[in-house]
Amino acid sequence: MAEKPDKVDQSKELAMLMEAFEQFNKASRQLEDKYAIIEAEAKKLREEVQEKNAELSKLSGLMESVLNNSNSCVIAVDESFKVLVKNPVADQLIYEIGEDIFSGMLRAYSRAGVFDHEEGGLTFRLSVGLLDTDEQRGYVYVINDITHLRHLEMEKQRDEKLKLMGEMAANIAHDIRNPLGSIELFASLLERDLQKNEPGMKLTRSIVKGVRTINSIINNILIFTKEIQLVKSEHYVADIVDDVILYMQHLMREKKIKFINRIDEEHMLRCDMELFKQVVMNLVHNAIDASSEKGEIVMDSFSEGDVSGFIVSDKGTGITKERRKKLFIPFQTTKAKGTGLGLAIVYKIVKAHEGNITVESDGSSYTRFRVELPV
Ligand SMILES: Nc1ncnc2c1ncn2[C@@H]1O[C@H](COP(=O)(O)OP(=O)(O)OP(=O)(O)O)[C@@H](O)[C@H]1O
Ligand SMILES: [Mg+2]
Repeated sequence: MAEKPDKVDQSKELAMLMEAFEQFNKASRQLEDKYAIIEAEAKKLREEVQEKNAELSKLSGLMESVLNNSNSCVIAVDESFKVLVKNPVADQLIYEIGEDIFSGMLRAYSRAGVFDHEEGGLTFRLSVGLLDTDEQRGYVYVINDITHLRHLEMEKQRDEKLKLMGEMAANIAHDIRNPLGSIELFASLLERDLQKNEPGMKLTRSIVKGVRTINSIINNILIFTKEIQLVKSEHYVADIVDDVILYMQHLMREKKIKFINRIDEEHMLRCDMELFKQVVMNLVHNAIDASSEKGEIVMDSFSEGDVSGFIVSDKGTGITKERRKKLFIPFQTTKAKGTGLGLAIVYKIVKAHEGNITVESDGSSYTRFRVELPV
């Protein structure tokens, strides 16, 4: 007996359904596989992005730290000079010289290169680079204050010139010294032979005084230009000072200056006696110059641990802070007849003894020079 047509259809449909399920399952498995691959791929991409982000933020942190810790002023601007980025040194510089001046300086150098710019007594070196990316055009500036460097360069040039001049001066001084010695000797003999009230007496005295002044200038020049050769031994400070004061007495008398000698008879210096007389002479001479009529100059001595030395104090004009900074540099004089070599020589001699010299002043009413040497 033949099957019923209904039943035949049913089993066919079932088979088709099964087939369809099978297909669906297969497709679904494939989809799952693909999804897993995509998910893995996405995870990898996400990780890469994270890694890149971390690298980027590390790099930008590094850039920022480089920028912030740079000792130079670094600033980038766009084509209309609007600031894109700047570091704290740039902020400081803008604050110091003013926004307008700073901006004017940038605008003056809108091309690549290295430029030196003078502004209000300062010298800046600008290294300019062009900023040229797809998104941004402009300039990057690295600016340094090279004023100090400039001064050093100028000082070096001046030192070389001074050295040459010094050699020349030393030759001249040397040649002047011998005939000068004769003049001093003859004038002194004449002074001795003349009676007190004879007309020539005053003139002769002036000659002797003038010659002594020239002699001390020449000595200064010779000491300043020559290499110092020390003949060191122990000397009483009092002996050095007494000799000098004898020599300077007439200057103090002229100005009615009171000299107070507080040197301790026991204190000693290990030094070159002749050179140290020069030190005391220059310091006392300056003190006399700075003092007014009836002024007061005091000399003290000290011996403390491994140093000993002396102090010259006056109640004169004082030395301002500005002047104190370059006091020991040669040719810094405020006197019409000064050479400005005195303190430069003092410094040279004290340093040759491995000693130290310091100055203290309120800039208007007193000055105190302290010289100390190792014992
Ligand atoms: N005791 C002082 N009080 C005030 N100013 C001083 C004193 N000592 C030095 N000075 C200042 O320092 C400057 C330099 O002194 P320094 O002795 O080197 O040269 P000078 O006295 O001018 O010339 P020179 O000593 O060569 O004759 C002086 O011109 C003066 O202005
Ligand atoms: Mg002097």
